[in-house]
Formats: sequence, C-alpha cells, structure tokens
Amino acid sequence: MASQLTGGVAARSRVVSGMRPTGRLHLGHLVGALGNWVPLQEQYDCFYFVADWHALTSDFADTSQLTAYAYENVADWMGAGLDPERSTFFIQSLVPEHAELYLLLSMVVPVPWLERVPTYKEQQDALKDKDLSSIGFLGYPLLQTADVAMYDARFVPVGEDQVAHLELAREAVRRFNNFFGGEALVEPQPLLTPFGRLPGLDGDKKMSKSLGNTIHLSDSSDELKKKVMRMYTDPKRVRADIPGTVEGNPVFTYHDAFNPNKADVEDLKARYRAGKVGDVEVKTKLANALNAYLDPIRERRAAALATPEQLKEILFEGSRRARKVAGETMGRVREAMRIVYR
Ligand code: TRP
Repeated sequence: MASQLTGGVAARSRVVSGMRPTGRLHLGHLVGALGNWVPLQEQYDCFYFVADWHALTSDFADTSQLTAYAYENVADWMGAGLDPERSTFFIQSLVPEHAELYLLLSMVVPVPWLERVPTYKEQQDALKDKDLSSIGFLGYPLLQTADVAMYDARFVPVGEDQVAHLELAREAVRRFNNFFGGEALVEPQPLLTPFGRLPGLDGDKKMSKSLGNTIHLSDSSDELKKKVMRMYTDPKRVRADIPGTVEGNPVFTYHDAFNPNKADVEDLKARYRAGKVGDVEVKTKLANALNAYLDPIRERRAAALATPEQLKEILFEGSRRARKVAGETMGRVREAMRIVYR
C-alpha cells in the first residue's frame, strides 16, 4: 500500500474500529476484535472508539451502565495491549460530527438498503424481548458508515458478523460520492480477524454475553477456575477411561488458543483420545494456562482503573484529536454538498 510522504515521515494509513459499551469484555472479544486491534498499532494510525450511540440502538431504555461500561471497556483495551500513546481512543458521542455525517448520509441512502442488511431481521428475530423497531436500529449500519468514513479509514478490523455492515458502508459512500462528485469519502474494507470465533463455555459455537457462556477479562483467577471446571466437554465421556473426542471439544479449542505448552496439549489430546486422562487434569491445566495468559492483562486493566482521572483524560484528549479530523472531513463534505454559507 502506497503511503504518502509528509515532511519526510510516511503518513500511515488509518484504521478505525469501535465497540459498543454493553457489558464487560470477554475472551471472545480478545480472540476476535481486540486481538486484531493490538498488532495493527504497529503499522497503522489507529482510531479506536467506544460506540456509545450504537449501544443505544438496542438498549435505549436502560442507559444506567453506559458510561461505566465505556470506562471499563477502555481499561480492558489497555489490558489487552492497546496503547493510548500510539493509538487514538475516543468516545463516539464526544465527536458529534458523527451524527451530522449520519444525517447527511441518511438523505441519500434508500430505506430498503438498510432493511436488506441481514443483521436487521436476524437481530429482530433473535432479540424478541427488545424493541428493535426504532429508526435508530434500522440506521445502525449507516451510523457505522459515518464512523469510518469520518476518518478516511481504508481498513476496519472487525469480526465476520460485521462484513454486511461494511458492504452497506461501501455502497452508501459510493452513492454519496456519485451525487456530490469526486472522492469526498473513502470506501472502507473489512480486515477480518484471523482466529475468528471462540466457542462458549457451554459448547455453543459462540461466546457471547446474551448466552451467558463467557469468561470476562475481569474475572478473578478463582472465578475463572470455577467456570473452567464446569465447562462443557465430550458428553459421552462419563468416566475417565472412556475414549473421548478432541475435535470440536471446546476445552481443547481453548487449549489450542491459549496454552503455549504445545507438547503438553498434544500429550493431553493423545491421552484423552485413549481414555487415559481425567477431565479434572485437562481442565486444571486449561485454567492454569488461561490464568497465566490473563494475569498481565488483569494487571494492566487494574492499573488503568486505579487512575480514573488519567483514563478520563486519555478519552477526552483522544476525542479532541478525533474531533479535529472529523471537523476537516465535515468541511470537505459540506463543500462537496455545497452547503457552505460565506
Ligand atoms: N457494529 C460494531 C460491533 O457491533 C461496532 C461498531 C460501531 C463499529 N461502529 C463501528 C465497528 C465502526 C467498526 C467500525 O461490533
């Protein structure tokens, strides 16, 4: 990818991604989105934000935890290795330009485009207890379009479930550019996470808050151990001397993902298949590996939460930086649309 030269320093392409502050982060986030966000800091000018308005699209009725989750999530990010010195962290609602761009895009994007986005119907069917009939929920992918177009982001690191949203974003940007000439906005591409999806503790294909099958980054080592000992495993194996199945067994999926001692994992798999190891040993070793993996994350997370003023300042400062870029983009957009009063 060609990088522009500015004052002798190669300007890095920009990457943008966001997360909704709807709860504490778990291991699924870590192997999914976050695990991808961290290494991108090396190569890109990364803007990572708390999508607090997006959280309202499904949870508008209860905002009591919103700001607390926002701070906790950012502490989780720092725990996972995101660095506010290298990346810009900001809060969506502290950059109100996102609402302006969303509004302007909403003038050119047909309603059926949004109704056709697969997550729209899927979420309505899956979350029957929530009222997802609002304009805001329909507009979710368009607000997301504004989030990324605002920063000329070419790449958006997301999980597979977000691909359809970025498809809509590209279509919306193209339509806007067609009407108002030239290349006012940049078309974003998804950057998929390599590992993909982590199964839940209950063996469900996905670890997710709504299924209650998660390990949080904030869980203590005791809580973690309890959860691992109760994890779903091969149900046919009612005794330790019965040969078990490793493939698709979440206990081993986690071993593969988090246990750095590959030789030990292979030995456990061989003995499991042969009916020569008890679940307690397999799970205890997994709990130990997970705790070793999470310990430094927990420490950095706790350090961030121990200095709330500093955490707040990181977000305020990042939001000011983001707003500067957003102001420039909106200047360009208003020019393109000829809505400039002089
Ligand atoms: N929709 C994303 C999710 O649920 C969150 C999000 C909002 C986002 N705006 C974004 C992600 C912009 C990437 C870019 O995970």
